[in-house]
Amino acid sequence: MADFSEPLTFRHGATVANRFVQPPMLTNSGEDGFATEDTINYWQARSQAGGLLITGFVYVSENGGPATTWKRGREQLAAYDDKFIPQLAKVAKAMKSHGSKALMQIAHTGIQANYRAMTNRPVYGPSALDFPFLPYKVHELSDEQIRQIIKDFGAATERAIKAGFDGVEIHGANHYLIQQFVSANTNQRTDHWGGSVEKRFNFPLEVTREVMRVVREKAPADFIVGYRISPEEIHGSAVGYTWHEATKLVDRLTSENELDYVHLSMPHYDAKPGDAMLSDNGADDKKYKDEAQPLAKLFQPYLNGAKKIIVGDIHDRQSATAAMEMSDLIAVGRENLIDPLFAQKLMSGKDEEIITEATVDQVQKTHLTRGLIDTYSGPEAAIPLPGAANLKPLHEGFGGWMEMNYPENDEMK
Ligand SMILES: Cc1cc2nc3c(=O)[nH]c(=O)nc-3n(C[C@H](O)[C@H](O)[C@H](O)COP(=O)(O)O)c2cc1C
Repeated sequence: MADFSEPLTFRHGATVANRFVQPPMLTNSGEDGFATEDTINYWQARSQAGGLLITGFVYVSENGGPATTWKRGREQLAAYDDKFIPQLAKVAKAMKSHGSKALMQIAHTGIQANYRAMTNRPVYGPSALDFPFLPYKVHELSDEQIRQIIKDFGAATERAIKAGFDGVEIHGANHYLIQQFVSANTNQRTDHWGGSVEKRFNFPLEVTREVMRVVREKAPADFIVGYRISPEEIHGSAVGYTWHEATKLVDRLTSENELDYVHLSMPHYDAKPGDAMLSDNGADDKKYKDEAQPLAKLFQPYLNGAKKIIVGDIHDRQSATAAMEMSDLIAVGRENLIDPLFAQKLMSGKDEEIITEATVDQVQKTHLTRGLIDTYSGPEAAIPLPGAANLKPLHEGFGGWMEMNYPENDEMK
């Protein structure tokens, strides 16, 4: 029987009170990169959502965000300057107010920084490719810029320490810059940073090394460092990398660094090879569906002492129990947007009190941010939320990528 309430201790000594995690989810509540009252109230309401709580991604370089943002005040949070520390500290304090561990997810958005293009600022990626799904240009990062971004990951980690977070999660998943370097679809460089699978691993390896260096020097001994990865990147016939390559990367990351955990980002906790990339359609060639075992099991031999988190459509006792059988920790995303007491209710056997659909009353009571309300009350969201249609009366305007009006400027194609 899965015991969700059993504490877990990471290799550097930090203990979480139970097996539930709130995975990183953007709150789209930042203003010029600063957390707002909206961000803090959202986290206060979610402070019991799991023993481990992870912020939505926070961008580490000025040129590393925001992304998927459609207007000022609906942005992601930033950590590229010390000026962000006081507001980040308020976020950490709200997250920790019921004794949970709070982690900051650190990221660079790379080619996904669409709000930069909208505001006439250059968007960078590993290679200057013409992506048909992006309305703006992508510029190639220079070697010097890449080395600066690696340092920025370290500096953002130091800011997370100063802001009172208990750890950081390196965002190597979901098509952001780290994954863009690993993927053959987005990285066509031929220097130190690309040209072979091994060279495509150099960026994630050097980012992780830098983060660990800062942690050893500046953080308390039990500071948590995790790494999030998408187990494969397969868009139909365009293959960025397969799980065979991703397990090699995880093996290197965890054997060369004492990571506390690896977090597999999947649309479903039980995803198999060929269908594991969030918001992609999966493989259209059977040869990529080469294993019947879930990815959660296939990655286990490569963890070298790191714990494992899995995620994806865990929303009731049945799915939580099945996921716990394959993992140390389980992350509950959208269900915590709807009912942040999901984990508490499951652990105390009050399953019938779990709320599974968003309603106006529920999102107001649980301080869902204005940005997320707009995202889900608009015409369509990339990752659907049960009950989203109930939120239509709350819609205040743009709700995301699909509704964006791109301006005409030099950075547009
Ligand atoms: C609104 C929203 C924002 C998200 N933002 C992030 C993010 O900042 N970083 C990240 O790694 N994943 C992000 N994700 C993915 C989630 O962490 C999670 O993997 C996904 O929602 C699947 O879990 P679920 O089925 O429990 O919702 C986001 C998901 C949602 C719904």
